[in-house]
Amino acid sequence: MKRNLCFFLLFFSLFNGLALGDWNILNQKGKNNKLGISLKNYCESWRINVELNNIRGFDVVPEECVEYIGKYMTSTQYKVDLERALEECTLFVSTNFVLKGDGKDAWIFDIDDTLLSTVPYYKQHSFGGEKLNMTCLERWMKTSKAPSVAYTLDLYNEIKGRGIKIFLISSRGELLRDATIDNLVNVGYHGWTGLILRGLEDAGKNVQSYKAEQRKRLKDDGYRIWGIVGDQWSSFEGAPSARRTFKLPNSLYYVA
Ligand SMILES: *[C@@H]1O[C@H](CO)[C@@H](O)[C@H](O)[C@H]1NC(C)=O
Repeated sequence: MKRNLCFFLLFFSLFNGLALGDWNILNQKGKNNKLGISLKNYCESWRINVELNNIRGFDVVPEECVEYIGKYMTSTQYKVDLERALEECTLFVSTNFVLKGDGKDAWIFDIDDTLLSTVPYYKQHSFGGEKLNMTCLERWMKTSKAPSVAYTLDLYNEIKGRGIKIFLISSRGELLRDATIDNLVNVGYHGWTGLILRGLEDAGKNVQSYKAEQRKRLKDDGYRIWGIVGDQWSSFEGAPSARRTFKLPNSLYYVA
C-alpha cells in the first residue's frame, strides 16, 4: 500500500512536472536551484556530457531522461548533428591530405549507429532506459533490418571513391557476419576491403582493446589509417589511433 502510494506520487510529480515543462530534479533533491534548471536542461546536460566522454560506462539512460533521449535520437536535430560531423569529415578528406595512392591508405568505420542504425531496436526497448539484453539485440540484428544512418552512405562512397581502402571494425560477433553483410548491402554499402568482427579469441576483451588491436594489425600490414568514424569513444581510444577521429552522436548506450 505504502509502495503504491510512492509510485503514485512519483508518477504524479513526473507527469505534472513534464506537463508544466519544468520538473526539477535539483528541487526534488531539496537542493538550491537558483538557475531554475528544467528537466530538459538536466537531460541535455547529461546528453552532452556523454558525448564529451565525461559520463562513462552507464548501463542505462537515467529514467528521467529516457523521453528526452528518445526524442533527440529520432529528431531533426540528431540528423543535423550527424550531417555536421560528416561534413567536417568530408572537408578533412578533401583538403587535408594527399594520398600516396599505393593502396595502403585506409579509413575505418564502426557499424552500429555509424553505418547502420539501431534506433528502431532501442525504440522498442525504451530508448536505452532498460538494461541491454544482448540475446534480444542480436536476434534483431540477425533480421538485417537496420536502416542506414543518415548521410553516412554519402561519406562512405566519397571516401571509397577517392581510392581509400575501407575497413569496418565492429564489436558484433562473427556469428552475425552473414546477417551484417546482407544488411549493409541491402541499404547500399559495398566495396569495403575488410569487415572485422569479434571472433572467439576476442570474447574476453573489452571493445576498446579489441579495436586497438585490429588497428595495430592494419598498421603492421602497412596501412596508413587516416580516419575513424564512430559513435563510441572506445572506437578511437588506445594505440595506434588515426590522423583524425570523428565522433557521431549516440546517447542510447555506452560501449567500453
Ligand atoms: C533476453 O531476451 C531473450 C529473448 O528475447 C529472453 O528469452 C530472455 O529472457 C531475456 N533475458 C532477460 C534477462 O531479460
